[in-house]
Parts: sequence; C-alpha cells; structure tokens
Amino acid sequence: MSYSHILTVKEGNTFTITINRESKLNALNIETLQEIKYAILSIQNDVEVRGIILTGAGSKAFAAGADIAEFANFNVKQGTQMSEDGHNVMNTIENSGIPVIAAVNGFSLGGGCELAMACHIRIASENAKFGQPEVNLGLPPGYGGTQRLVQLVGKSKSLEMLLTADLINAQEALSIGLISKVVPMENLIDTCKEYIQKFASKSPSAIAMVISCINNHFKGTFPGFEREISEFGRAFETSDFKEGTTAFLEKRKPNF
Ligand code: COA
Repeated sequence: MSYSHILTVKEGNTFTITINRESKLNALNIETLQEIKYAILSIQNDVEVRGIILTGAGSKAFAAGADIAEFANFNVKQGTQMSEDGHNVMNTIENSGIPVIAAVNGFSLGGGCELAMACHIRIASENAKFGQPEVNLGLPPGYGGTQRLVQLVGKSKSLEMLLTADLINAQEALSIGLISKVVPMENLIDTCKEYIQKFASKSPSAIAMVISCINNHFKGTFPGFEREISEFGRAFETSDFKEGTTAFLEKRKPNF
C-alpha cells in the first residue's frame, strides 16, 4: 500500500510509521489520520511484527495538531464528523493488539498530543513539548484529549493544561506521568526498539490480552468521549472559533 502523508517501514519485528509533513510540523490533516489508521490495521495479522513505532519526520515536531488550515471553514456537521473520525483513529491505535510506541520527537500539540496519548507507551526526545492549546482556537480538544489526558495525568493537571493552553517540556511530562522516558534525540528510535525487543520476548497473545483488559477498564463508564464529540462540533458555530482559527492563519494573537 502506498501512502501520501506517511512513510512505513517494516524492519525485523518493528513496524515504523512516520508522519511525513515536516514543512507543516506534521500537522494531522484528515487523510494523514486515515493513513495512520490503515497502516495500523494493515499489520495486525503480521505475526513477525511485535511493536509499532509512531513518529514524526524531522527533529522539530511529532505532530503540531490537527491541520488548522483544513478545518478553519468547517461547519458544525463537518466539525462533528471530523471529531468522530478522529476518535475512530485514536481508538484503532489504542485497541491495536500489537503495542504502539509514540516516539515523540518535538512538538506534540493538540491532535498530536492526543495521538501520542492513544499510543500504549510514549518516549520523548529532550526537545519535546506537549500541550492542548485548542482553547486558543475557540475549541475544546476533539480527538479524545479531554478524556485520555485525565486518564493519564489526573483531573488537576489536565484542567491546568487544558484551560491555560500552556505547553510543558519533556521533563515535566515525565514528572506528571504523561510519558515513560526522556532520551536524547539521537537515541529516541533505538530506545523504542529496545522496548520492542522486550515485547518480542514475551507472549504476543498475552500482550494483546493485557492491552484489551486495560482498555476495558475505561470502557462504558466514561460518557465524556461522546460529550467531547458534541462539544467539539458545537464550537464550529461560535464566533470564538472563527476568531481563533483566523488569528492562527493570520499569524496573530486571537482577540476573544
Ligand atoms: N495546522 C496547520 N498548520 C500548522 C499547524 C497546524 N496545527 N502547526 C504548524 N503549522 C504550519 C504553520 O502554519 C507553518 O506553515 P507556513 O510555513 O506555511 O506558514 C508551519 O507549520 C511552521 O509553523 P510555524 O508556526 O511557522 O512554526 P513556529 O516554530 O513559529 O511555531 C508552533 C511552532 C508549534 C508553536 C506553532 O506552529 C503552533 O502554535 N501551531 C499550532 C498548534 C496548535 O494550536 N495545535 C492544535 C491544533 S487543533
């Protein structure tokens, strides 16, 4: 299968997906997300693959969020659909029976942070920065961020990050439990591969069962995912959304 926005490489027991939109800081347009989903699904039955690495091209960004230029003129219906589709991609990653490691090589913002959070393990380079800056755009997060951030770091820190839109560096992300490890950029992929060698020495069926059990811990009892989709869609009819996205595209601060 050939893709337009991602690169995929299978090497030994590792399958690597690289978001390949470096000039746009690997911003996640809709096609990119669909390609990531298909790439993950495409190797689910490949018994040789024992781990998946998801990373971004270049050394500046993992992914700087959903593609603002793409959705800036969306209406409520399109915004709701965008969120539903994004949730579907994140759920596909989270439910992969083969562990997915986010190799976070720079900015991991908005949809990029949500993408990293849908992975099973996050390893970051020292220059990585994390944040959910959607309120600058007149939006709540729309790819599961209001829910997975709380699951990973708790309500207090989630509210602080989501309400201020402040970015945190890799060390702080480590200290709040958002990520597992910080390493120099040159060691990032090798560190992920070391994890995959550990997975490869374990039972793949047991690993898939662990993932399924842990995901099930959060299933059903959290209607917040549904609420996030509807609130994200509703935001598209607000003047704040127009101002927030226009300000980004005009490279100025929004005036709310
Ligand atoms: N969507 C679309 N394009 C994006 C993008 C996004 N989320 N993030 C970055 N880009 C584009 C910029 O528009 C710019 O394109 P251009 O060269 O054609 O003008 C290019 O990527 C480089 O970004 P730039 O802003 O010039 O880099 P910077 O180093 O000055 O700033 C960031 C880096 C990450 C702080 C800044 O790009 C940013 O704030 N991005 C948006 C983050 C965000 O709000 N994400 C949530 C979206 S839901």
